[in-house]
Amino acid sequence: MKAVIIDKVTKAEDIILSEAEIPEVKKGWVLIKVKGFGLNHSEQILRMSEINASYIHKPIIPGIECVGIVEDPSDTDLKKGQKVMALMGGMGRSFNGSYAEYTLLPRRIVFPIETGLDWTKLAAIPETYFTAWGSLFECLHLGEKDTLLIRGATCALGYVAIQIGKVLGCKVIATTHRGNKLPLIKEADEQILDEGVLTGKLNGVTKALDLIGPKYLKDTLKCVEKGGIVCQTGLLGGVYTLNGFDPIKDIPNGVYLTGFFSNYPSDKMINEIMSFISENSLCPCIGAVYPFVNIRQALTDMDDHKVDGKIVIEV
Ligand SMILES: NC(=O)c1ccc[n+]([C@@H]2O[C@H](COP(=O)([O-])OP(=O)(O)OC[C@H]3O[C@@H](n4cnc5c(N)ncnc54)[C@H](OP(=O)(O)O)[C@@H]3O)[C@@H](O)[C@H]2O)c1
Repeated sequence: MKAVIIDKVTKAEDIILSEAEIPEVKKGWVLIKVKGFGLNHSEQILRMSEINASYIHKPIIPGIECVGIVEDPSDTDLKKGQKVMALMGGMGRSFNGSYAEYTLLPRRIVFPIETGLDWTKLAAIPETYFTAWGSLFECLHLGEKDTLLIRGATCALGYVAIQIGKVLGCKVIATTHRGNKLPLIKEADEQILDEGVLTGKLNGVTKALDLIGPKYLKDTLKCVEKGGIVCQTGLLGGVYTLNGFDPIKDIPNGVYLTGFFSNYPSDKMINEIMSFISENSLCPCIGAVYPFVNIRQALTDMDDHKVDGKIVIEV
């Protein structure tokens, strides 16, 4: 099969499709014929630096999500030919992921799905909708009366969070750090140019989804009303941990801080997401689509910030 395989820091322009053996099935693991997958910011981090970490299995086929067909269910309850999606749980980090024609994955992260959506639209869903869903509902308990701030909204996750917030009936305030990108978040009720300080500039925010991360987290905490919640999900600011964080002084009285990690997908949440998309006739947000043979171009365009929204690779 064809696959992307890396073992060291690799620039997008150095990515090649290599020949690899189709993985051999083993108990509890499912062989999937990949039909499509989305690209993620975290895969960019893996390729540019995280690959050096000791917990990354090397060489590794990257890719933290995919959609496809069960080629061999091994001893699991799945059936050959069944349509599935899969994500995270160590995929593309602890074991080989989806940048390949076939991928062997543990049953616990493979979810059977029934849908009329084509493979391309389906490929835009797993990681991005799961993370938006978990952040907005499991962590922020979002409801229609909320005013939702999405900080760093011009990314695949941000566009989906706007979409879900609006379907729910919330007031949505979205930010971007580039003035020329304000039109891209026009679905939100308010669009704000974020120059690093939002404290004192917003009114009535009850829930905040922070996609910039520790770089501005202290400022985000000061943007929500008493009783409000901040969910820290993204790391677009390039700062991954927060040194010198003083919970007593940095978290305003009566404000709650939580975080979401998409490593633990569940059948229940995947089913809820697919029903929500179907019941509300949502079109999954897609920025650009590339065939697998052009994955180097897709990754280069991602690094050059040429695509706004989810990049989908058709295999
Ligand atoms: N917690 C979790 O489990 C989890 C799961 C999924 C994703 N995430 C995180 O969520 C974030 C979004 O992920 P994604 O895959 O949706 O990203 P993505 O679609 O790959 O978007 C990346 C783009 O975000 C834009 N961006 C917006 N605001 C930015 C800012 N202030 N600083 C730098 N870049 C900014 C950049 O483009 P411009 O600079 O041109 O605007 C960049 O090209 C990432 O940090 C990712 O690691 C976390």
